[in-house]
Amino acid sequence: MDTTLPSPVYNYKVVRQFALMTVVWGVIGMGLGVFIASQLVWPALNFDLPWLSFGRLRPLHTNLVIFAFGGSALFATSYYTVQRTCQAPLISDKLAAFTFWGWQAMVAMLLITLPQGLTTTKEYAELEFSGAIWLAIVWVAYAVVFFGTIVKRKARHIYVGNWFFGAFIVVTAMLHVVNHAAIPVSAFKSYPVYSGATDAMVQWWYGHNAVGFFLTTGFLGMMYYFVPKQAGRPVYSYRLSIVHFWALITLYIWAGPHHLHYTALPDWAQSLGMAMSLILLAPSWGGMINGMMTLSGAWHKLRTDPILRFLVVSLAFYGMSTFEGPMMAIKTVNALSHYTDWTIGHVHAGALGWVAMITFGSLYHLIPKVYGRERMHSIGLINAHFWLATIGTVLYIASMWVNGITQGLMWRAVNQDGTLTYSFVEALDASHPGFVVRLIGGVFFLTGMLLMAYNVWRTVRLADPVAYHAAASLAER
Ligand code: HEM
Ligand code: HEM
Repeated sequence: MDTTLPSPVYNYKVVRQFALMTVVWGVIGMGLGVFIASQLVWPALNFDLPWLSFGRLRPLHTNLVIFAFGGSALFATSYYTVQRTCQAPLISDKLAAFTFWGWQAMVAMLLITLPQGLTTTKEYAELEFSGAIWLAIVWVAYAVVFFGTIVKRKARHIYVGNWFFGAFIVVTAMLHVVNHAAIPVSAFKSYPVYSGATDAMVQWWYGHNAVGFFLTTGFLGMMYYFVPKQAGRPVYSYRLSIVHFWALITLYIWAGPHHLHYTALPDWAQSLGMAMSLILLAPSWGGMINGMMTLSGAWHKLRTDPILRFLVVSLAFYGMSTFEGPMMAIKTVNALSHYTDWTIGHVHAGALGWVAMITFGSLYHLIPKVYGRERMHSIGLINAHFWLATIGTVLYIASMWVNGITQGLMWRAVNQDGTLTYSFVEALDASHPGFVVRLIGGVFFLTGMLLMAYNVWRTVRLADPVAYHAAASLAER
């Protein structure tokens, strides 16, 4: 990159705001995860209050961790990356500020409506249509800021990380609009324009691509910027990154039917979803290998750099969950895994191991830079966070594998006369130890998140405003 260009003054204010809110929503969203995990161990924690019940808090957990925590992380890192790689400030500070406040307002709507039971009932798209319209407006503003900055770039080349962020922005808009097409009957109630199996297909086309584009493509944009930066090495193969990009976005969009195996969905659609999911292994692993191999010649840094460890372990979990996913998409495997805790384990291998860990690594790299400090307040605390997060994730997913396979086998066991061997309650009882281990894993993970919050607070509090302004006007370091 040409560092002889005059140094533009980047908009780091919005990056700092989103980065801090990532930490805040991380603590709250994961805290809620630990609470609902406790409810599965001790059901009395529902307290017979509707707004504290598992059924209402579970979607609040998923929305807070995906959209408030993950979304804020994506805004922070995409705004940071696009400015530095384009060597241009964001095109509009006002519009960028609008995306920050608009996004937080959307999260506030989730916090108010979901505990009251106001929901579309579509998973990961629970916000009722009035909130969904607001989200669409904020998203359009985000697209204008992001793509406008690319148009106004000083660097000739569009760095590959921006391709991934760009695809995530465009496809998320498309998914959101199509899946939310509804007829409102009051300010907080609407009904989808689709019905029956069509509605289910649209919902899981959305649901799977929310995973594919929100929780994967956006975070791959993060990976392509922060892994090379932290490793101090160029991306292993630029050509592979381009092949990876086109293959991933072409294939992901077809895999949704694997969520609807053995349902009223036509059989050919289920088989197509299964085949596309199996092919999806190739680009997923292409991306993982590209990230891992970027460390060639820098592996020794893992011994001393816990930030790099976060980034590499996140790629290992990404590889693991994108191997597991295609296996679960095979109809005969899905016949065992569907409806069981195996799915929950798969979700959190991706969510904790990949999404959260790549976010932690990227934020530990980014926060000192946007606050004008050499490094985070305590490297020891980052190391402790790394081990808590890794052990927490392993406890979570291992317990859910055991539970999932136990449940699947107990549900399908039949006696010689054709009657079921086990009642549902017996399978639930057998799952109890797994629920306890998952809770312990969740507490580990949350404790790590709290250490991060403390470390960030100390870093921010000690930040020298003069050095911050100097950092804000620095070009690529
Ligand atoms: C301390 C960390 C966390 C704990 C203890 C936790 C716990 C839980 C629990 C107990 C459930 C409900 C499982 C069930 O219905 O049987 C759940 C669901 C879910 N969580 Fe988490 N969670 C954590 C972090 C996260 C993060 C960081 C993400 C995403 C980035 C996430 C995404 C999800 C999703 C998508 C579901 C729904 C899964 C499905 O419907 O199959 N969780 N979580
Ligand atoms: C090649 C990549 C992947 C494939 C083919 C895949 C496939 C699958 C399959 C077959 C299911 C189970 C559907 C069911 O029985 O209901 C599933 C569930 C899920 N996966 Fe993946 N997966 C992949 C990667 C990921 C990653 C990286 C994440 C997270 C970042 C993730 C998040 C989820 C979530 C949240 C669900 C639960 C959806 C729900 O029922 O609520 N997946 N996936």
